[in-house]
Amino acid sequence: MNKPSIVSGIQPTGPLHLGNYLGALKNWLEIQNSGKYDCFFFIADYHSITEDYDAQEKRKQIFELACDYLAAGLDPKKSIIFIQSQVPECTELAWIFNTLTPVAELERMTQFKDKSQRQAKNINMGLFAYPILQAADILLYKGGLVPVGQDQVQHVELTRDCARWFNNKYKVKYFPESKPLLTETPKIMSLLAPENKMSKSLGDKHWLGIDELPELFAEKIGKAVSTPAGIENLKTIYQAFKRKMAGEFNPEKMAETKKIIAKGIADYFADFRAKKEKFKEDKKFVLDILAEGRQKAQAIAQKNIKEIKKIIGVE
Ligand code: TYM
Repeated sequence: MNKPSIVSGIQPTGPLHLGNYLGALKNWLEIQNSGKYDCFFFIADYHSITEDYDAQEKRKQIFELACDYLAAGLDPKKSIIFIQSQVPECTELAWIFNTLTPVAELERMTQFKDKSQRQAKNINMGLFAYPILQAADILLYKGGLVPVGQDQVQHVELTRDCARWFNNKYKVKYFPESKPLLTETPKIMSLLAPENKMSKSLGDKHWLGIDELPELFAEKIGKAVSTPAGIENLKTIYQAFKRKMAGEFNPEKMAETKKIIAKGIADYFADFRAKKEKFKEDKKFVLDILAEGRQKAQAIAQKNIKEIKKIIGVE
């Protein structure tokens, strides 16, 4: 392994929406298939427990996200696919970064501010230190480029800062200065409130799940608002799946255009849906892939954390 590393993850919090796909996953596939990078794609389960959740449900969400990854085309022969919590060296590195990060830097994080409002009764330390764990995810594998959506840019900037703080404090050039890698569609907006990014936290009708049934695509897109911002958002979505669209985007005829978009997206994800069902039925196959990913990731993580502990003087 000596190509530049690419690292990214998604939280297992339920179905993937169109924003997750167009902002991140689609890019991961292109990066993986380019053959130019060592790719690390993981399931960010430790991040997801900073929100209220149900333990039984979480187990399912982790497994389903693995099925999503595989059905979308992540390939264990080309990428290391694993579960974050299964490589505990990551939380060790997060602790080291905790000791380097000024509290004021974390207080600036817009996601922390948003989530603190949304879950006012559960503003836990994990939520506050969330970007530090993300920095550890990335830097444990010396990730240079981080393919994410717009909403994660601030976190990747903090990752770069952690690398700098570490390198400066210990007078080494150990970590790379990570940079976000955005797609042409880094911010897909809500269908009903297009001034907000598409997100599951807004409510069911605001987002499109990529494994939803074609009827739901038609219903949800049919109800999408047709304000200028709403039309702009639908146009972005239309363009992203253009090769599947059987008709023009006509802002004068939105009812018709919406039908074209819904059908185009349903067609685009038909293969994904079928593959996901197959993976869900073959639990052992999926778990074996995750076990293999864990082994590969951990071999690198263990080597790196040893070097890091030497640098900081604890080993
Ligand atoms: P998460 O799980 O919220 O989202 C996963 C990915 O989807 C992108 N995304 C969007 N892109 C475009 N439009 C949208 N409306 C939209 N909504 C979400 C996100 O930017 C993200 O790329 N903190 C991360 C998970 C994480 C991570 C990491 C990412 C943990 N460790 C290390 C990269 C590297 C998160 O919450 O993503």
